[in-house]
This record gives sequence, C-alpha cells and structure tokens, in this order.
Amino acid sequence: MVVVIMGVSGAGKSTLAQQLAVALQAGYAEGDDYHPARNVAKMAAGMPLDDADRWPWLSLLAAEINTWLATGKDMVLTCSALKKAYRQHLGLMQPGVRLVYLDGSQAFIADRLRSRGGHYMPASLLASQFAALEAPNDDEAAIRIAVSLSTDAAVTAIKIALADSTAAAKSSPQ
Ligand SMILES: Nc1ncnc2c1ncn2[C@@H]1O[C@H](COP(=O)(O)OP(=O)(O)O)[C@@H](O)[C@H]1O
Ligand SMILES: [Mg+2]
Repeated sequence: MVVVIMGVSGAGKSTLAQQLAVALQAGYAEGDDYHPARNVAKMAAGMPLDDADRWPWLSLLAAEINTWLATGKDMVLTCSALKKAYRQHLGLMQPGVRLVYLDGSQAFIADRLRSRGGHYMPASLLASQFAALEAPNDDEAAIRIAVSLSTDAAVTAIKIALADSTAAAKSSPQ
C-alpha cells in the first residue's frame, strides 16, 4: 500500500508522514526529493515552478509509486499535490494507493508557523499555495484529516480509515 499525504506547505505533511510510516511499518519518502535537477536549480534561483516544470517531476513520482506497488513495498509519500490534475498524473486513483488530505485554513496554518519560530514562510507563499489548492472531491475518496489534530490523533484516525477501507474492499462482491 502507498499512502500519499497532500496539502499546502506548512500543513504538516512531513511531520505526519514520518510518524505514520513508523506506525504502519512502512517506508517514508518526500515528494520534493524527486524534483529533476532542472527544477532544483530553478527553485534555488528563486524562480517559481510552473506546470510545465511539474509534469516530469510528477511522472517520476508516478513511476516510483508504480514500482512500490509492483514490488509490494508499503510506503508513505508526501506530495503537496495541490491540483486535481497533478493527482491524476500521479495515478492516485488506482487500487493500493490511498490519499490523505491535510485540511486546514490559511489563518490556522499561518498562526501555527508564526508561533513556531524555526519554520519561516513568507505569507505570500502560503497565500499562493491556497490560491493553487483544489481540495479533493468526493470521487477521490481522500481521508480528510484536520491540521488542528495532534500528530498522534491523526495517525490513529488514518489507521482506522485504512482498516475500514480494507475491510470494505474484502467484503464487496467481485
Ligand atoms: N499536528 C501538528 N501539531 C502541531 N504542530 C505541527 C503538527 N504537524 C506539523 N506541525 C508543525 O508545523 C510545521 C510545519 O510542518 P511540516 O511537517 O514541515 O509541514 P509540511 O511538510 O506540510 O510543509 C512544523 O513546525 C511542524 O513541527
Ligand atoms: Mg514537508
């Protein structure tokens, strides 16, 4: 199983993914680590990525997800995946992949980041993340987790949701 944790920058994806991976005895990967060198150079130069930059990156991630599925490797992957088209490109609708959406308001996340000195993010970056965000529709069957939950509570809620969906899949007729 591959669990993909999506949400805006600062929502808590990396924090949750690390604890969830431990709880599920799964591996953990950061989507941002898969950016091609060209994108890394662009970001280092302070240039925002556009969608044309993102497709090759999402293709790499999709290939990685397929490899994990094919080899039966349980993984937790973070990826902001803000737009529905990105999620479609990642192939998140296929069996064996579950999407977790970290849901919270811009004001809540901005307040939390402000109160935690170490994690500096310009307000304009958070605003641009929310401008790009397309929350998952019902047809994407995302597990919705409020960002205000503690990480422990989020892990518990996700484990319950994953167990429920496995049970439902087993009991549904072929
Ligand atoms: N459930 C939580 N409760 C309180 N603070 C959290 C929680 N999850 C993350 N944080 C804090 O919020 C900040 C952003 O978290 P991070 O995991 O880096 O987000 P992302 O990977 O989505 O950018 C960090 O300072 C982190 O410690
Ligand atoms: Mg992160």
